[in-house]
Parts: sequence; C-alpha cells; structure tokens
Amino acid sequence: MEGGNEQKILFSAVQPSGAVTIGNYIGAIKNWVALQDEYRCFYAVADLHAITVRQEPSALRRNTLELLALFIACGVDPEKCVLFVQSHVPAHCELTWTLNTIAYPGELSRMTQFKDKSARHAENVNMGLMDYPVLMAADILLYQSALVPVGADQKQHLELSRDLALRFNNRYGQTFTVPEPYILKENGAKIMSLAEPAKKMSKSDDNVNAFVTMTDDKDTVIRKFKRAVTDSGSEIRFAEEKPGVSNLLTIYSVFSGKSVKEAEAEFSGKGYGDFKLAVGETVADALAPIQKKRAELLADKAYLESVMKSGAGSAFKAARRTLSKVYRKIGFYAGE
Ligand code: TYM
Repeated sequence: MEGGNEQKILFSAVQPSGAVTIGNYIGAIKNWVALQDEYRCFYAVADLHAITVRQEPSALRRNTLELLALFIACGVDPEKCVLFVQSHVPAHCELTWTLNTIAYPGELSRMTQFKDKSARHAENVNMGLMDYPVLMAADILLYQSALVPVGADQKQHLELSRDLALRFNNRYGQTFTVPEPYILKENGAKIMSLAEPAKKMSKSDDNVNAFVTMTDDKDTVIRKFKRAVTDSGSEIRFAEEKPGVSNLLTIYSVFSGKSVKEAEAEFSGKGYGDFKLAVGETVADALAPIQKKRAELLADKAYLESVMKSGAGSAFKAARRTLSKVYRKIGFYAGE
C-alpha cells in the first residue's frame, strides 16, 4: 500500500434517488464520519445504482450535487477521504461486466431487494434492477475494501459481494480482498417507519409521515414525531414487544448522544406525548446545523465540483489498479 501505510480500506455509497432519511444517516453516513480517521475511505454518490428505477434527469442531476453537499455537511471530510460520483469512474461498469460472467441469475433473482423492487416497479423490471448487487460488488471490490459500513438491509448484497470475490479468487488466483460488512450491532442498523414500526424506514414509502428526511424543517420533524405510532401501554422502555417506542428511543439516543438506558431514565414516568415531542425537538435541533451547512455548500457549486473532480481522480487511479489486475488474470491481451 502507498507509503507503507497499512490502513484498511473502506467503501460505502448512498443512492441519489431523492430525499435522504434519518435512517440513511444513522445506518450509514454517521458511521462514515466516525470511521474516516481510522481507515482509507472511499465514499460515493451511487448514481449508476439510482437509474435502476426511473429517475427524472434534471432531478437526478440536482440530487447528485445535493447528496454530495449533505455528506460534507454531515461531517464527511473530502480532505480525509475520497468522495466521488460513481459514474465518474468508468471502472465500476467495467468490473461489473466481468463479474457478471461469474454471477448466476438464480442467486440474483433470489435477492430480497430485487423481489421488493420488482413488485413495486412492476412496469419497469429491467436487467439493471436484477444486476444491481453485481454493480455493488464491483464498487466494493474495485478498491480492495476490507470493510463496508451499511444498514442491515444491505447484508444480503454484502454476502453476494463476498461470494463473488471468493469465486473469482478461486478461479483466477488471489485478486480481491474479501469484504466484511460493518453493520451496527446495537441500535441504528435498522431504523423503522414512524407509521408502521414493523417496517424499515424508507424514503420510497408512500406515506410521508413514515420517514423524516435530513432536510425536513423543524415543524415538519416535530409533526411527524408527534404522529409516530407508539405501542399499547404507557411505559417508555426499550423492548421487543414495544417496537414503536424502541425505535423512537434509538433515534433519540443517536441524536442526543445519550445511551438508551439514560433516555429511559429521563422519560421514566412521562407520557408518550411529552416523549414524542422531546424526540422531535432533539432531532430537529440536531438537523439544523447540518441543514445550514448543506445550504452554504450548495451556494458554492464550484467547490462541490472541485471535490467531485479530485475524488474521481483518486478513485480512478485506485480502481484502475484493480481492474488492470483483473484483466491480466482473465487473459485479456494487454493494450498499450
Ligand atoms: P441506499 O441509498 O438505499 O441507503 C444508503 C444507506 O442507508 C442505509 N439505510 C438504513 N440504515 C438504517 N435504517 C434504515 N431504515 C435504513 N435505510 C437505509 C442502507 O443500508 C445504506 O447503507 N445499494 C446501496 C448503495 C450502494 C452501496 C454500494 C453501499 C451502492 N454501492 C457499495 C455499500 C457498498 C443503497 O441502495 O443504499
């Protein structure tokens, strides 16, 4: 590795497919920030993934810039990590093609997300939707990533990335680092819907009250938490049989910096109404500085474009190294 630096490599990405929820923040982006000092991190705006469902071109362009600004506003530091837009680095598509030749339709059609998305977008079940996890494997393997910080919903995709890495290594000799998922063990790996706490919080939920976005204003955040579905009984306690209250305690704990135990003690004897209001206020107050920073960054497009450009340059170099190795192993005749 460069300069004898033994730093482990880490890759993760978020799709620029509209609003980013506090689930995305808690399950992924917040951890990216925590890990950037310890690892050599590659973080991407996954625009190639986003087009597997129909995107309005002008919205996709705007969402890409806005997501990059949000990453930085959340504390992802372009001086410490490689921050880039996936489509700026052609090696992602090139490695996907190669990995496609060792991926089986059976294993791809079994993926939960493929089944869910095909049901939700029945009018547009395209090859990209099915191939999505292979592109994800290419993202990860291109950088020889050891760790991939994601939410629990990405675990199955991560397993496929590992399988493809092992399959390729077995067939052609050691080429790829086999990545490990980095999924929060305790709270936050899966933030649940505010309307139906048995379901994951998702930006594609038809009910806008089910999710809170990183750009919701204070009134909206408070209104959504006030409406959040709680459980029967009145105790504010983290427990399996209390999924609604437990989800709110998790969210409160992340945004207040207090442990769930401390939060339980704080709300002991209080009613659900007071609790939900406190969660809403805490989240809104924590989002305010991020939103302010995001707006400042978006006013400086030249800066954001310079980050993209320099990120793409660094990612391109690292990705090329792996791709050349792959091409050599599979027997492609070397070009110039
Ligand atoms: P995406 O854009 O759907 O979500 C981005 C990240 O947010 C996490 N997440 C959640 N975490 C906790 N609770 C939730 N309710 C919640 N909802 C979403 C996701 O697990 C994810 O970490 N395919 C990926 C993007 C991607 C990627 C990659 C990730 C493309 N290439 C390579 C890792 C490595 C996706 O659709 O994430």
